[in-house]
Amino acid sequence: MAREKTWQGVIAVADLEAAWVTRVTFGPRNLAIYDTPSGIYVSLALCNHGGADLCDGYFDGHVIECPLHQGAFDVRDGKAVAAPATRQMKVFEARVEDGMVQIMV
Ligand code: FES
Repeated sequence: MAREKTWQGVIAVADLEAAWVTRVTFGPRNLAIYDTPSGIYVSLALCNHGGADLCDGYFDGHVIECPLHQGAFDVRDGKAVAAPATRQMKVFEARVEDGMVQIMV
């Protein structure tokens, strides 16, 4: 039987890089946590084009640009917004509770 999803804390909001992207290791996953003008968003840190670490990319507003080939994604929904990235990246439902960023996993 599949485990029910729950909210899990990944990092304190106070430990985030302000208006930037922060890398967090969460179990077997590396996550990218984005501090944006409209809130916190979370994705897998691995670029789905060629496996680069998005946390080493350039972040501006709601868009993360991959450091390897400059593909880009909207962190709010994961949609690819610049080639060569074409596939939606994995994003997680996220919220802030008691000063912690939580994701639904
Ligand atoms: S590895 Fe990210 S765009 Fe190619």
